[in-house]
Amino acid sequence: MEPLTQLNLDEFESVARDTLPAVTYDFIAGGAEDERSVAANRAAFQRRGLRNRALVDVATRDLRTGLLGLDLPHPILLAPTALHRLAHPDGELATARGASAAGALYTVSTATSTRLEDIAAASSGPRWFQLYHLGTREASEELIRLAVKTGHRAIVLTVDVPLLGRRERDLLPPGVAMVHAHEPAWAPPTDDRSRAWASPIASANLTWDDLAWIRAASGGLPLLLKGVVRGDDAKRAVDLGVDGLWVSNHGGRQLDGAIATLDALADVVAAVRGKAAIVVDGGIRRGTDALKALALGADAVAIGRPQMYGLAAGGAGGVQRVVELLCAELDLAMALVGAASLDALTPDLVA
Ligand SMILES: Cc1cc2nc3c(=O)[nH]c(=O)nc-3n(C[C@H](O)[C@H](O)[C@H](O)COP(=O)(O)O)c2cc1C
Repeated sequence: MEPLTQLNLDEFESVARDTLPAVTYDFIAGGAEDERSVAANRAAFQRRGLRNRALVDVATRDLRTGLLGLDLPHPILLAPTALHRLAHPDGELATARGASAAGALYTVSTATSTRLEDIAAASSGPRWFQLYHLGTREASEELIRLAVKTGHRAIVLTVDVPLLGRRERDLLPPGVAMVHAHEPAWAPPTDDRSRAWASPIASANLTWDDLAWIRAASGGLPLLLKGVVRGDDAKRAVDLGVDGLWVSNHGGRQLDGAIATLDALADVVAAVRGKAAIVVDGGIRRGTDALKALALGADAVAIGRPQMYGLAAGGAGGVQRVVELLCAELDLAMALVGAASLDALTPDLVA
């Protein structure tokens, strides 16, 4: 394999665009309908400026952070993404190795193309498990039990997929399938108009009342809700004992027109008032993007598409390099804004 010479995350996207089959690149890069929320996520980071402090001792920087009982070397996480074997033949095994090498907490998707046992065996770092409710309690509980058995340290329940968003670029090539998310009762609808975006992972019947059995099935692992963009939902979650809120619009793949995640963050931070961990994803491509989100109250940031582009460009090494580039950029950005640790990233830095 060629040495990895990409200088930034967008260059990894260029490699993926040039090397992956177009249908696969479109599956990864695409969003719902007019892809307005995909664009909005990035635009929100570009719109905000930084007000850097002068004459602060930043000779050494500390990116370490604690997150729901885990000690992490930095606050950059891998967001859950489906079907890694589309991007690289080693799929989630390569992601696990790359994430472990880069010290990134790996959030494993329900929609993996590799069994959880095998991903666990390839990992030496911590993992969280992202749960899609599979339609029935029995199906989801079985998956949660497997996630617990295979050493995941939290359950991240995705709450923004009651039905799958209408992604017009999507048409999966044959040969790569979800290995856990095939609920036996599910059959493709016969109606052509809904077939394209119906899915076993759509959980239209999931409500707040389901949080209790999901938590019980996990034996009390920390529970995060992914896909929250409103303060009132965040408050309700905290009142119900949820441990973390993951501010996300699914990378613009669900509700087109959903608010940019950086714009949603302040409302959620204010509602949570330090009572739960906050993760944010969507459009984070630079260390300065990560810094803005952290300064505005996120405890950690996550990347979706860039890990897939890293995988496509270089397997485990590509994932590792994507995370390391973002960490190096964050470290530099901290020095340049005058913040020697994550605690010093405060909202006044962001204009
Ligand atoms: C190819 C792809 C597959 C995804 N699969 C999942 C998934 O299985 N579960 C989930 O909760 N989110 C999924 N997401 C959403 C990501 O977790 C994340 O919210 C989003 O990608 C963040 O935006 P970014 O790609 O701009 O970093 C997926 C995103 C992409 C791009």
